[in-house]
Amino acid sequence: MASKPKLLVTRRLPPAVTERLNATYDAVTNADDHIMSPDEVIEKAQGKDALLVTPADKVNAALIERLPASVKMIATFSVGYEHIDLEAAKKRGFPVSNTPDVLTDATADITLLLMLGAARRAYEGERAVREASWKSWSTTYMLGVHMTGKRLGIFGMGRIGQAVAKRARAFDMEIHYSNRRRLSADLEQGATFHADPEALLGVSDFFSINAPASAETFHWLNAARIAKLPDGAIVINTARGTLVDDAALIAALQSGKLFSAGLDVFENEPNLNPAYRELPNVFLLPHLGSATVDTRNAMGFKALDNLDAFFAGKPLLDRVV
Ligand code: DGY
Repeated sequence: MASKPKLLVTRRLPPAVTERLNATYDAVTNADDHIMSPDEVIEKAQGKDALLVTPADKVNAALIERLPASVKMIATFSVGYEHIDLEAAKKRGFPVSNTPDVLTDATADITLLLMLGAARRAYEGERAVREASWKSWSTTYMLGVHMTGKRLGIFGMGRIGQAVAKRARAFDMEIHYSNRRRLSADLEQGATFHADPEALLGVSDFFSINAPASAETFHWLNAARIAKLPDGAIVINTARGTLVDDAALIAALQSGKLFSAGLDVFENEPNLNPAYRELPNVFLLPHLGSATVDTRNAMGFKALDNLDAFFAGKPLLDRVV
């Protein structure tokens, strides 16, 4: 029997994925799920044929250059791949795969959770109940923002943006979007396209960030752009923290320019800007967009499908480079 390909898996995988992993691969895994240092990755990658990494790993050029010659592919357990230096991977001749599609619904669901949570003051309400500061029902107590009929601006209308729009239609929201390319009419489904993303800001009572992290989108939502949002707008981010200039968003939440924000992702997460923790009008989640059992299994299986294809000499299903 041919020997199994050797893998380094940098984080713990869900049990069902681990079972399939062990059936096909001779894998070094990470039972206690710690974040490996670059030196640990290099040491454990010795003699391995491929790496299975996650968005919590910084697979930068320095790390890729130090990987042993035995390594021939990198698969990431994520749709986002900004944590991997693709140019460095290309230089070393590695293909890199990701896990699109299977997390679209879960991430769109959490976007709606954040929209509702931020609009209806879910954090403040929850806290009032737990801290017993809630005194009685009142006509003016903890009033939030109605979603029905409001304008939703979606910045980045890929798979997840489209799934957010689909859900928002059930709330009778008016959908606006910007995207590199305009969608076909059947995908657009009546949403209004804004070729200039700056124009999207002015029509966004809710502004949902669904674009990938890149050099062009770094700190895209800055003070000047927040000023273009309607007063009392709500900002939602389920994409990547680097798209937001935190200082500008925090200032707008403090001043009341924005009603609230719902954030699942942060620059330098989990070490988010500490000012967020002090703000009552921000609904915070710890990067849970894809965190359902079904979705994480599907992501793991997709990562393995790509590795299987590579080791069978077939084209990768989800090749990003
Ligand atoms: C991804 O796959 O990029 C997500 O952010 C993980 O939840």
